[in-house]
Amino acid sequence: MASGKHEGALGAVYDAKRPEEVAALYDGWAETYDAEMAVAGYRHPSICLALLSRHLAPGAGPVLDAGAGTGVLGAWLGIMGYSPVEGLDISPGMLAVAARKGGYARLHRLALGGPLPFEDGSFAGIVSAGVFTSGHVGVEGLDELLRICASGGIIVLTVKDTLWKSGFASRIDSLVAQGTVARAEETQPYVSMPGETGTVPSRGLVLRRL
Ligand SMILES: C[S@@+](CC[C@H](N)C(=O)[O-])C[C@H]1O[C@@H](n2cnc3c(N)ncnc32)[C@H](O)[C@@H]1O
Repeated sequence: MASGKHEGALGAVYDAKRPEEVAALYDGWAETYDAEMAVAGYRHPSICLALLSRHLAPGAGPVLDAGAGTGVLGAWLGIMGYSPVEGLDISPGMLAVAARKGGYARLHRLALGGPLPFEDGSFAGIVSAGVFTSGHVGVEGLDELLRICASGGIIVLTVKDTLWKSGFASRIDSLVAQGTVARAEETQPYVSMPGETGTVPSRGLVLRRL
């Protein structure tokens, strides 16, 4: 990112080894996250919103922001007519900032990668911006999102290239072959923060749950 401080916060979360470490690092970053990401030109939430609105009609049903962070997407989803919007995140500090913004019907402190306390097919749409990335959530986070997405529902993810090439793409291929999902759209690879140099690109992926 543009400044050393930004690079430090993001570098630390990317290098984190355990979920508790990730949560603690984001707790410490929560109050300055929005301003720093804006300076870096952070793109994932905008790309995710654009993708969701191409594939899921407003009013289709509940939407989950998985890894909601400070709630950048919550208010935008509401403005675009999605309701109710729920959010989950592993970091209480990030959730506290999201709660102050008031864009969510419910916020949950939960970790992706393990079981989630939602009924099968609970959500018409699931969005996860900037979460399937280094040091955060890997392909193991996908199964529960598939379970809690309604049949015909839409899952929008950003996936960092390192993950994509180390098992994510082949997992998607098997899910498509099994008839669990259809691949609705995939963006060109793009850099999530143009203010950073030498970063690994990500892609936006849209899956329709069958
Ligand atoms: C780069 S931020 C993205 C936040 C928000 N989606 C956005 O685009 O601004 C990554 C978020 O993922 C959360 N996170 C990391 N690992 C997680 C996990 N295992 N379960 C849930 N949230 C996690 C972090 O706490 C952080 O809020």
